[in-house]
Amino acid sequence: MSSPQIWLITGTSSGLGAAFVKAVIARGGKVIATARNVDSILHLKALGAETLQLDVSSSQEELNKKAQEAISIHGKIDVLVNNAGYVQFGTVEETTIEEWNQQYQTNVFGTLNTTRAFLPHLRHNKSGTIIFNGSMAAWDGVPTAGAYCSSKAALHYAVESLSREVARFGIKTLLIEPGTFRTNFLSAQSQKRAVPKYNDYEEINVAISGEYDKLAGNQTGDPQKAAELVVDVVKGENGAGGRKWPSSLLLGSDAVDLIRKRCQETLRELDEWEVLSRSTDV
Ligand SMILES: NC(=O)c1ccc[n+]([C@@H]2O[C@H](COP(=O)([O-])OP(=O)(O)OC[C@H]3O[C@@H](n4cnc5c(N)ncnc54)[C@H](OP(=O)(O)O)[C@@H]3O)[C@@H](O)[C@H]2O)c1
Repeated sequence: MSSPQIWLITGTSSGLGAAFVKAVIARGGKVIATARNVDSILHLKALGAETLQLDVSSSQEELNKKAQEAISIHGKIDVLVNNAGYVQFGTVEETTIEEWNQQYQTNVFGTLNTTRAFLPHLRHNKSGTIIFNGSMAAWDGVPTAGAYCSSKAALHYAVESLSREVARFGIKTLLIEPGTFRTNFLSAQSQKRAVPKYNDYEEINVAISGEYDKLAGNQTGDPQKAAELVVDVVKGENGAGGRKWPSSLLLGSDAVDLIRKRCQETLRELDEWEVLSRSTDV
């Protein structure tokens, strides 16, 4: 019998992170569940998970120490799940550079720093899978969500480059791009909202925040089903077996619909402007 896979998951205090912990353990894997506040995940020990404090926005030096601590628990890590993230709302003009920095510090730089902390170990082992929790938002600049959408778009292309860099070491990356999932993501304690500054934006701020308030608790996606599918993909089992590894795994019918529409619009626009686009060649 092969030895159980060792998974390290960030942001497991709720939502998709907590769902990953349950799905991996149910399929015989071992989990190191991490959170900013380790007290918030002590209950996961009862499921068989180890727990570790880890804030992805910490310094590289601190994250390197956390990686060493995590690796020493079972002697290795096979799968790193970069799940932690949050949404900063606010129009581009009304959000501050500090709010953008914080958004990127968690969703982009924190995710990449955590990855950097584990890469020497994975390169040494010549194996491993790194999962990145992106978003369908990477494909669609939603008004009042520019900080979030752009952070997930940055992650999309950073992961694409990384994937082509580390495949030679036997390391796989899996970018998941969920639609809307029923988690704490849109709750008052998880999301951040910029202070509105200008009446000119009131209409759009009210309209979009109203849409998200209505969406909270009514999202189409089931986090547990998403986590189970991702475990299937990593293990190549059930419906995920025998398929070509995806460059981006969309989760949820809303993500599929949005991205299909976006691709069709992109092709239409490319066709409409093609003659002029080509006319600038030397
Ligand atoms: N739900 C959706 O509709 C949806 C759609 C697309 C993508 N996603 C992505 O899915 C991921 C998980 O979100 P979720 O939906 O499960 O929302 P959630 O229930 O709010 O969970 C977010 C998790 O991230 C953690 N976190 C935030 N900042 C952190 C940091 N600096 N270091 C470590 N952990 C941190 C939170 O921990 P604390 O308890 O410490 O705050 C929490 O455990 C995010 O990356 C999100 O962008 C979600």
